[in-house]
Amino acid sequence: MIAAVSERTAREVITLDGPAASGKSTVARALAERLDVPFVSSGLLYRAAAYLALAAGADPSGDDALVHLLERRRVRLIPHRDGDRVTVDGEEVTERLHTDAVDAAVSAVAARPRVRAWVNERLREIDGAFVIDGRDMGREVFPEARCKLYLTARPEVRAARRVGERDADLTAVTDAIRRRDAADARQSRPADDAVELDTSDLDLDETVERAWRIVAGRLAADDS
Ligand code: C5P
Repeated sequence: MIAAVSERTAREVITLDGPAASGKSTVARALAERLDVPFVSSGLLYRAAAYLALAAGADPSGDDALVHLLERRRVRLIPHRDGDRVTVDGEEVTERLHTDAVDAAVSAVAARPRVRAWVNERLREIDGAFVIDGRDMGREVFPEARCKLYLTARPEVRAARRVGERDADLTAVTDAIRRRDAADARQSRPADDAVELDTSDLDLDETVERAWRIVAGRLAADDS
């Protein structure tokens, strides 16, 4: 039943939203693997926009200048099993998108309505079935999705996870996460029909299992 997700409908989208370091990309990737569909990270496009703004020395809060910059370059998000890739004018930039400088700039860039419209347009162009993570995928971009999850975790827990990924100080990372939560608050709200999952006291395997049960339950319920 579940394995047939991509055959059943060409437009099955499963959305996974939540704040920074809530585990959504890891869970989204695991779900995508089980469903045998691609995983799409919407944050990468915002990161690419922030990266291009920084590289050009552009004002991240200047809507028009930023969008002109984005429209002049050919930015591609390429879903990939081992992690999505981003290219700009054919050059791979993925490795440059998860730096502290991009983290610090990305929320301001993502707050620009025209940048959001540019990202959303790129995302809606993606064909077929996929699992996508972000902040507003279920509420704004794919409101028609049948299966929506919203992952949360306490800020200290999320910071500890991030410290494990990058060589960084826990207090500084906790502060940075709280700042990004505040900056992202407007664009980061669950859809009314999303299932919320607090992962603070769950390890990764438990989180994936819970998320999988929710997704499988929803897809099965709709099938019957
Ligand atoms: O998910 P990730 O941490 O890579 O996202 C980076 C940033 O992109 C977020 O902090 C947020 O500012 C922005 N973002 C957004 N809406 C999304 C995905 C990401 O505003 N759907």
